[in-house]
Amino acid sequence: MIKPKVGRMFLATCVGSFFILILYFQNISKSASEQISGRDSFPVKSGRSPLQTLQENDQLEQSAVQATMQGRRELLEETCHTHTRKRRVLGPEDLRHLIVDDKHKLLYCYVPKVACTNWKRVMMVLTGDGRYREPLAIPANEAHIAGNLRSLSEYSTAEINKRLRTYLKFVFVREPFERLVSAYRNKFTRSYNTAFHKRYGTKIIQRHRADPQAEALEKGNDVSFEEFVYYLVDPQTQREEPFNEHWERVHSLCHPCLIHYDVVGKYETLAQDSRYILKLAGAEGEVKFPATSKSTRTTGDMAAKFFDNISPFYQKKLYNLYRMDFLLFNYSMPAYLKLR
Ligand SMILES: *[C@@H]1O[C@H](CO)[C@@H](O)[C@H](O)[C@H]1NC(C)=O
Repeated sequence: MIKPKVGRMFLATCVGSFFILILYFQNISKSASEQISGRDSFPVKSGRSPLQTLQENDQLEQSAVQATMQGRRELLEETCHTHTRKRRVLGPEDLRHLIVDDKHKLLYCYVPKVACTNWKRVMMVLTGDGRYREPLAIPANEAHIAGNLRSLSEYSTAEINKRLRTYLKFVFVREPFERLVSAYRNKFTRSYNTAFHKRYGTKIIQRHRADPQAEALEKGNDVSFEEFVYYLVDPQTQREEPFNEHWERVHSLCHPCLIHYDVVGKYETLAQDSRYILKLAGAEGEVKFPATSKSTRTTGDMAAKFFDNISPFYQKKLYNLYRMDFLLFNYSMPAYLKLR
């Protein structure tokens, strides 16, 4: 998604302004009312950006959804404060997952396995100047073509800073192990995902299977969840290259301690949270977030089964690897883990 012109040089020269931005843009709406009114509606004035709408509404009596969102923001900020020692500076590389909608002033950080295909489709409708109307009419592979949507990393420093300051920034997260099992099932248990089998499966089998068959080494198409876990917790894996985005932590993909997200949506409340964002954007009439009814979706119960034959030692290592995602987004340690 990055254009070649954005390179290392750029990173060196824009350090100062990014730093200012981080200090300047501490979380908004600190003083907002804590009251929960039970209403689920709030005024949206025309001519306001979604960020202004959010800030103005948080000064008034809050609806239940607004209070929930404020709770998530505060918990995120506190956890960042407690768990991150040094504030790092953001570079364009860090902004690759942020998708820009200049028309509605939105920044969406996409996280694979958290309804990101549907959110990219919605972003294509929003930014498409009428080219698309119905998100589900856009083929999934088209939603993932770099170039159909703009990434924040493609903009100049000044343009980046302006957008980070004035646009509504949102991200969708999911229970980390449910997301991980979903990634495993999708990339390693479906026969059509040959690219992943070749790229990752062969390496995983070579390193983490005793006595592999020649065919398995060649195809990489029968990686077990256990082997996948060994691969993830092996320090060599991340020394070689960053995790693939499907199993990389939200903490590393979206930098929630450096970018102060205005809305943290959750997969568990996807429909409601998506509606809230589209309402803030004044885009309810333009697009509806697609309803999902997938029966193959990975659930918590399903995740529990996959962890059944992972030893407590590796469960602990894996939990530590994903710990920040658990803490930042208020997910408790799954009860099925044998760690206590
Ligand atoms: C965190 O999760 C707990 C348990 O699900 C919930 O009761 C609480 O309201 C959540 N806190 C925030 C700030 O979202």
